[in-house]
Amino acid sequence: MIRIAHLSDIHFGDENVPALAAATAWLNSQSLDLIIVSGDLTRFGERGEFTAARDWIESLRGPRLVVPGNHDTPYFAWLERLVSPFGRYERAIGPAEVSTWTGPRLAVYGLNTARGVQPRANWSKGQISPRQVDAALAWFAQAPADAARLLVCHHPLTEMLGGPMTGKVWGGHHAAERLAAAGIDLVLSGHVHVPFVLPYVFNERCAAVGAGTLSTRERGCPAGFNVIEITADEVRIVAQGWSGSAFTPWRSWGRPRT
Ligand SMILES: [Fe+2]
Ligand SMILES: [Fe+2]
Repeated sequence: MIRIAHLSDIHFGDENVPALAAATAWLNSQSLDLIIVSGDLTRFGERGEFTAARDWIESLRGPRLVVPGNHDTPYFAWLERLVSPFGRYERAIGPAEVSTWTGPRLAVYGLNTARGVQPRANWSKGQISPRQVDAALAWFAQAPADAARLLVCHHPLTEMLGGPMTGKVWGGHHAAERLAAAGIDLVLSGHVHVPFVLPYVFNERCAAVGAGTLSTRERGCPAGFNVIEITADEVRIVAQGWSGSAFTPWRSWGRPRT
């Protein structure tokens, strides 16, 4: 069985200190194939917030894959945001545009749906270009046939209907259709601060999976993270919720692997 922890939206600067400490202790007590962090590591893209995020990542045992979110570009340093939107992220955390992980029966590809600037009023929303999808599909094409295929990005590619906020990802629907058609099992994201599992309506063999937040910016459900277990014929996802003193299963989903 493959066992993955999926965390998101820690927003260092606004992190939920006791919940994050408990999550970290739990992560380091487990045997996990991979720890995934799907963006929004910081609050305002400040250097000190990135340092805290880097120190936290380095405190984790075992492999991890991290992608940036819309908060991981400087909020106040406008010129830097224009010229080098993910420079701070790359210096502290690692590659912003693409990161990959291949393990036994597991292939994970992370990409960046956040942008420093956009030709629309709300720069917090996401984008994914056809070229980004091309690159992801070319990478997945060379992964072992029996590997579970997971794509990781910050913004949900299609909307979480009934959710507390939108991603409005330019290119998202088309990207999700192509990923599902290519046999990707799960598309993992954050941004909404609420955990969810939603099979794509146009191709139910692929599901969108959102992780909640470990920041204090809760949006209608407790701080938490997801644990994903994958066997040859099933995927189980448990959203762990913070009670104020411990994590307990808050909601769970099971899906057959096809
Ligand atoms: Fe966030
Ligand atoms: Fe976000």
